[in-house]
Amino acid sequence: MSKEKLIIFDTTLRDGEQSPGASMTPEEKLRIAKALEKMKVDIIEAGFPVSSEGDFLAVQGIARAVKNSVVCGLARANDLDINRAGEALKDANAARIHTFIATSPLHMRDKLQMTPDQVFEQAIKAVKLARNFTDNVEFSPEDAGRSDLDFLCRVIEAVINAGATTINIPDTVGYNLPQQYGETIRQLIERVPNSHKAIFSTHCHNDLGMAVANSLAGVMNGARQVECSINGLGERAGNAALEEIVMAVRTRQDMLPCDVGLDTTQIMTCSKLVSGITGFAVQPNKAIVGANAFAHESGIHQDGVLKSRETYEIMRAQDVGLSSNKIVLGKLSGRSAFKARLETLNVAIDSEEELNKAFRRFKDLADKKSEIFDEDIHALVSDFKMEETFAECIKLISMKACSETGEVPQSTVTLLFDEEEKTAHATGGGLVDATFKAIEEIVASDTNLQLYSVSNVTQGTDSLGEVAVRLEKAGRIVNGQGSDTDIAIASAKAYINALNKLIAPMDRIHPQTYEGV
Ligand code: KIV
Ligand code: ZN
Repeated sequence: MSKEKLIIFDTTLRDGEQSPGASMTPEEKLRIAKALEKMKVDIIEAGFPVSSEGDFLAVQGIARAVKNSVVCGLARANDLDINRAGEALKDANAARIHTFIATSPLHMRDKLQMTPDQVFEQAIKAVKLARNFTDNVEFSPEDAGRSDLDFLCRVIEAVINAGATTINIPDTVGYNLPQQYGETIRQLIERVPNSHKAIFSTHCHNDLGMAVANSLAGVMNGARQVECSINGLGERAGNAALEEIVMAVRTRQDMLPCDVGLDTTQIMTCSKLVSGITGFAVQPNKAIVGANAFAHESGIHQDGVLKSRETYEIMRAQDVGLSSNKIVLGKLSGRSAFKARLETLNVAIDSEEELNKAFRRFKDLADKKSEIFDEDIHALVSDFKMEETFAECIKLISMKACSETGEVPQSTVTLLFDEEEKTAHATGGGLVDATFKAIEEIVASDTNLQLYSVSNVTQGTDSLGEVAVRLEKAGRIVNGQGSDTDIAIASAKAYINALNKLIAPMDRIHPQTYEGV
C-alpha cells in the first residue's frame, strides 16, 4: 500500500455492547471477534474487563484466541480498572489498554466532581500504570467534543509524555459538526508539541447522524485511526459504522490521504452476525449493508445498470461480500455442498458436531422450503448457535397454535423449564399473543415486552420469518431472536431466547459511571 495506513479500531464488542439490549455472552463476543479478525480489523476493543466477571472472561477469551488483530480492553483512569484490564489481556499476542477520563467542564464538575488539575494528574497516573502492562496505550479525553482546546492540549501533551501511543478524541455525545470536529483534530496535532509521537484517533457518536462524516473529517485533518462499529452499533444513536467508513475510504481514494487494510468481502458476514446476535435489525436502506443498498427498483436505473454498472453503482456488491448467485441449495443438496456454501459465506462452524447439527437443520428447512438462499443459511446457523449458548435453561419442546375465523386464537406450549417438562394453554388476541401468554404461564417472568418485530429473511411466503423480541425487567433490557418458516414458532423461539438471556446473571458496570475513580 503506497498510501499511509488508516487503522480500523472496532468497538462493536465494547461501545456497541453498551446499546440497551445489545449485551452479549462471552461465547457470542468470541464469535464476533473471530469474524473481525478474519476481516483483518487492526484493533478489536473486546470489552470493559472491570465491568463484570462475564466481560472479564470475554476479553480474556478473545485475547487468547485472536492472533492477528490487537486486542484492546477499556479501563477508566483508576488503578482497579487498569489492573483488571492488564490481567484480562495478559495472554494476548498484542494487547492495548484504552484508558479514559472526562475533560469537558460539564463532566469534570458535575460527573467527576474533580478540578481540571485533578483530572490532569489522574490521566498521567493512569497512562503510566497502563504502560506497566503494555507499551500500546490509548488515552481518551472523554467528551473532548465539548472540552476546552487549551486544556485538551495540556492533557494530551502530558499523557504522550507519560507513554500514551494513541490519542483518541471522542465526540462522546455526538454534538460536533464535521468542519468543527476536523478542525479540532487539526489544531490538536498542530498545537501539541509532541503530537508526532502518537497516532490521533476519531471516536464519533451518531446523535445528529454525523458520526461517519465527523470521523472522515478527522481523517482529512490528520487522524490515522478511526473507532467504529459494525452496523454503527453503540451507545444511544450509535457509533460511526465500520462498513461506511471502510467503503468510503476505499471508494473515494481520489479524496482520502490514506487507505485501509481490511478484507471488505467479509463485511456482510460480520453485519449479519452482529445483527443476528444482538437482535438489532439492519434497516433496509442502511448504507452498504441494508437489503436495498445494491437493489435497483426503478426501470430507468435497472436499464442503466444493465448497460453499464457504473451508471448507478459506485461500489461492487461483491466487494462487500454480496454474492450474485443467491439461490444456493435445495432438498437434494448433500453435506459437502452445504459445507462448501458455509465456507463461501464465511460462516464459522467450530466442530464436526456443529456441522452435523447445522446440516440437520438445513435438511428440515429444505423439507419446508424448496430453495435455500444465503440469507436462510445465515439465519439458520445463527438460530442454533444462539440456542446452544442457553440450551440448559428454557427450551421449547413443542407447541400448537390454532386460529380460526370467529374463534379465539389459542396456543399450547410445552417447555423444558427447571429441568422439568411443563405444558400450558392460553388464549389471546392472536396466535403470537396466545403463545407468549402460554409461555408466561410456565415461566412467570414478570417482564415487559418492549418490542416485537417480524421480518422475512428472503422473499416469498415460504420465507423464514425472523422475529426480534425485546424484554425489560427491573431496568435490564435484553433482545431475543428466533427464526422459522412458521411465524408463531419463530416468535416463541425469540421470546424464549430473550427469557434465557434475562435469566443469565449479568451485573455490569457502565464505563461512563464513575464510582470508585
Ligand atoms: O464515547 C466515549 O467517550 C467513549 C469513551 C470511553 C472513549 O466511548
Ligand atoms: Zn463512545
